[in-house]
Amino acid sequence: MTTKAQTLILFGATGDLSRRMLLPSLCALDAEDLLPEELEIIGTARSEMTDSEFRNFAREAIEKFLPSDRRGGMASFLNRLQYSQLDVTTPEGYAELAEKVGEDREIAIFLSTAPSLFKPTIEGLSKAGLADERSRICLEKPLGTDLSSSCEINDAVASAFPESRIFRIDHYLGKETVQNLIALRFANILFEPLWNAQHIDHVQITVGETVGLESRVDFYDGAGALRDMVQNHMLQLLALVAMEPPSSFDAGAVRDEKVKVLRALRHLSDEESVTGQYRGGASNGEIVPGYDEELGRDSDTETFVALKAHIDNWRWQGVPFYMRTGKRLPERVTEIIVNFRCVPHSIFPDAKLKPNRLVIGIQPEENISLSMMAKVPGIEHEGMTLREVPLDIRMPDAFTGKHKRIAYERLLLDLIGGDQTLFVRRDEVEAQWNWIDAIRAGWEAEGKTPKTYSAGSWGPSAAIALAERDGVSWHE
Ligand code: BG6
Repeated sequence: MTTKAQTLILFGATGDLSRRMLLPSLCALDAEDLLPEELEIIGTARSEMTDSEFRNFAREAIEKFLPSDRRGGMASFLNRLQYSQLDVTTPEGYAELAEKVGEDREIAIFLSTAPSLFKPTIEGLSKAGLADERSRICLEKPLGTDLSSSCEINDAVASAFPESRIFRIDHYLGKETVQNLIALRFANILFEPLWNAQHIDHVQITVGETVGLESRVDFYDGAGALRDMVQNHMLQLLALVAMEPPSSFDAGAVRDEKVKVLRALRHLSDEESVTGQYRGGASNGEIVPGYDEELGRDSDTETFVALKAHIDNWRWQGVPFYMRTGKRLPERVTEIIVNFRCVPHSIFPDAKLKPNRLVIGIQPEENISLSMMAKVPGIEHEGMTLREVPLDIRMPDAFTGKHKRIAYERLLLDLIGGDQTLFVRRDEVEAQWNWIDAIRAGWEAEGKTPKTYSAGSWGPSAAIALAERDGVSWHE
């Protein structure tokens, strides 16, 4: 934990992420007295703006995106804000920024700009003396579009900052239930002895979204579901489910274990992936256009992907990890389902025993549910009638009075506090890209194009078949 007074510099301060997430998160932290008293926040962007105009901009963003009971007085937060106009590609503005920051302060720099601007920004910061041992830097995705472009970004950042001062965001790691997954696995004795190929049949990870293209036409069409969601968020979830117990909950130990899983991912064969693109249909009770109509042209970008992944190590040999994600699916839902094996011998010949299943709901509901076989009460029948019943923990009921947080609150606090545990290390990002690049190369070699699915459905029928071939049904 730092002791000096700090300045947080937000690059891209007038952008969408800043408006929707960063400024509201910082205000919420301030309202709970979680920010260091002397923290100053300087927003920078290309537009001309005075400090007071930037404060107005921030106020509007907070009023729009943060519930009123989380805003506190707001004035104390707005007073922390200053603005420095800066075109990151020209050297001029950096000197003024350095002057605003002053000499004797620690600096946290948050780059929420296009990755193409990272390199000139880092050069500008270095020349202005803002990239020395008092500063750390935080990067938002997308960190490249493949391994080689990601290495380029990482090299540019590494030219000015050592890895110990680089904070790469994956906002899924800021979500409470994602952190709870670590607690569930390593703060309870119950699951760990069963958490392996001997007792687990398969794992499913679903990240469903009901939204379509939104306003991110160019970005999304250049990325697709595999790079937008699987490369980062879903592989982080998979790594947390599959990693060995770290020796402590610190950045080195946790990330060492995650990267081993990512490196053990087997390259997929052609029949282990399905891609899809939505057509018009009914989603969330409204009729919505297809992807090509939203885009205004034809495209081969996938808006859905389903994969059957394997982790080649002792613990997970022979256990498939089915993953699927897509836009315009029937529900916004993120969940991990751990399907255990059947009991080795049933003493209930008349009952169809179902294997236990652990469902970890990440959003929209934060809950954990374990399905168990239980006796149906009654004496009408001979022997026993058995049925599956859930053991449920709904987090909001278990922890009443706790509000839902924006994932960035935790991450911004850790950036300011200098804790890297919930940030992604370079070797993790590279292992992630390595696996994703091989999938894309396979698609290219096979000439694979997305199959269509209707908006509001769970993707193309081939995705259902991907699991059903193995006798597995997707959890719904
Ligand atoms: C982002 C993706 O990283 O995550 C978006 O770029 C996606 O396409 C978003 O919608 C999902 O995040 P969340 O927190 O809403 O699940």
